[in-house]
Amino acid sequence: MKKLVFATWFGTSLSTLFITSYSTFVLQEALTKESIYTLIAIIVAYLPYFLVHQYVSKSWKKLLFLLTTTCVIASIFYLAPYIGHVIFYIIPIYAVLFKEKIYFIFAFFISLIGYTTVLVLQPFISFYPLYEFIQLLAFITYTVILYYVSTVSAKQEKLNSMYTKTMEALVLAIEAKDDYTRGHSTRVSEYSMILGTYLENNGFQVDLEVLRISSLLHDIGKVNIPIDILQKKGKLTEKEYEEIKKHPTFGAEIAISLEFPEEITEPILYHHERMDGKGYPHGLKGESIPLLARIISIADTFDALTTNRSYRNAFAIDEAKEIIIDNSGTQFDDELIPYFIECFPSLRSRAEQLIELERQLTIAMVE
Ligand SMILES: [Fe+2]
Repeated sequence: MKKLVFATWFGTSLSTLFITSYSTFVLQEALTKESIYTLIAIIVAYLPYFLVHQYVSKSWKKLLFLLTTTCVIASIFYLAPYIGHVIFYIIPIYAVLFKEKIYFIFAFFISLIGYTTVLVLQPFISFYPLYEFIQLLAFITYTVILYYVSTVSAKQEKLNSMYTKTMEALVLAIEAKDDYTRGHSTRVSEYSMILGTYLENNGFQVDLEVLRISSLLHDIGKVNIPIDILQKKGKLTEKEYEEIKKHPTFGAEIAISLEFPEEITEPILYHHERMDGKGYPHGLKGESIPLLARIISIADTFDALTTNRSYRNAFAIDEAKEIIIDNSGTQFDDELIPYFIECFPSLRSRAEQLIELERQLTIAMVE
């Protein structure tokens, strides 16, 4: 959808700019105030969409896009009726939103016939064959690009939903093995996103989509760990602990076999590394641990501390915060901890909601 809006904005701006420049410089017509207003109106029209698109639902996005495009066309008609045939650009755009090839082909030919008729027969300006031909060519190129962009986004959307479904299935597979960790991956992903978004707003280079996927899958390697070790109530023997320590490597191997890129497999592999080098599986130290792994490590521990485990009860949320602060510089990155403290109110309120949700789910399952 974002690509479609960008293509529409770029296409209409470019065509208006082209028509205005051609009239001014080639046909030597005076540059009118109307042309400048039209151009400015088109260039700024999609700004509200870009500003709010992250915060509204899909249907609102679509409505906002249709409203903006209608406003653009209406203002063109009002401000500069002589370039009003931009209306023929809108029909294929609306057709693309229905995601059916046949609608698009139909809309394309209707617009092409309408456009050609207007260009040839329009009574209010003189007929310049080359100029009209270039305009038609621009229209065809524009609609073809629009169609291409929309098919690419549709394919991408489908791939994304397949990706999401695969991940949900994988997460279910991890958590089905251990009652105590049900919901853990989702919660770790949510906490990672709160901290990651805060860091990104403060100048850190955080790819939030990569963080979302890698945090959701961070424990995926646990599918290869024997269930009796995962669910053991007492203290683990050294041998069992060695077994548990293999899960980041198993997880990274699974992610690699699913052809996830390195930026996703690395945080999975390194989410149990520590700043002092005493972590596993490779004992990496300091900044040699990827940033996303350092973020997930904080979120992972925060969730582990605030939920019941087979070997102990949950800590209070504020106690968990203090434990994490106490381990700053040894287990956790001391550069990230001040940001963890700053965004803690958001983390706390989300944790309260998620823990309550989990409690109600457990009650419902027992009943
Ligand atoms: Fe883990």
